[in-house]
Amino acid sequence: GKVGVLYGGKSAERDVSIMSGTGVHKALRSAGVEAHLFDTGVRSLAELAEERFDRVFIALHGRYGEDGTIQGALELLRVPYTGSGPLASALAMDKTMTKRIWVHEGLPTPRFETLDRQSDLAAVAARLGLPLIVKPPHEGSTIGVTKVTDLAGMRAAYDLAAEYDEHVLAEAFIQGRELTVAVLGTGAGARALPVVEIVAPEGNYDYEHKYFTDDTRYLCPAQLPPAVTQRVQEISEAAYRVLGCEGWGRVDVMLDADNQPYLLEVNTSPGMTGHSLVPMAAAADGMNYETLCVEILKDARC
Ligand code: DAL
Ligand code: MG
Repeated sequence: GKVGVLYGGKSAERDVSIMSGTGVHKALRSAGVEAHLFDTGVRSLAELAEERFDRVFIALHGRYGEDGTIQGALELLRVPYTGSGPLASALAMDKTMTKRIWVHEGLPTPRFETLDRQSDLAAVAARLGLPLIVKPPHEGSTIGVTKVTDLAGMRAAYDLAAEYDEHVLAEAFIQGRELTVAVLGTGAGARALPVVEIVAPEGNYDYEHKYFTDDTRYLCPAQLPPAVTQRVQEISEAAYRVLGCEGWGRVDVMLDADNQPYLLEVNTSPGMTGHSLVPMAAAADGMNYETLCVEILKDARC
């Protein structure tokens, strides 16, 4: 049937989505799928309905693409789509809500507080310790994120994050290794792929290093003791399941100096660019980019 690859969109990650969507479209085409690109940032929902896609691959990131809104619209249109449903998408898009659920479920995540304009930033820094991470809970690709190393930096970090979100997340910084775990499948069938370790220059895996430079190194599978790999995969699967994620996703994890893992967030519509990590993990598992796209599409539902 006719497949729509939704891409572009209106979020701060629009440019990333254009890279993801272009890659997915090309791969599906070469697999013989009748795929069409559809930019939700410039075309309307009415036009999406008129296209009468048999199913869609969501290659959108961030707001209006990964946050449950487009998923809800596709439910109404009765068009099967890839990835998580409205609720899990909305929860995962909000890193604070995500962490509240993980804490409730006994899953490890760095200590955190929610900040607003009235917050006593010095008191927050005293409670969480420095350095700490300040982030807008609804953004991706490190947009609006600051690692605060001294008290003087708290205000600017808050102000930057507050440009994107009403409430701001302050999180204890975990000194250690940066990992990510792709998860494919749904419910009891959700399975972690090999763990990826990200080694960025000076530990600075930011927007530039994510998409535009070649000085970040990726190790896949990550060189970890087998018991640590197993634990990281297990908590990633659990983190994904308790949010009700479906189809596919990617869980970001920090590993401290004692090899204790801490969950950071779940991306329910992960990057599929040439630099992206789910394709890398799939490759380590013997699945190429094209097969990965086809498999994700097969799982589409509504
Ligand atoms: N937010 C970006 C697209 C990612 O997680 O891959
Ligand atoms: Mg993210």
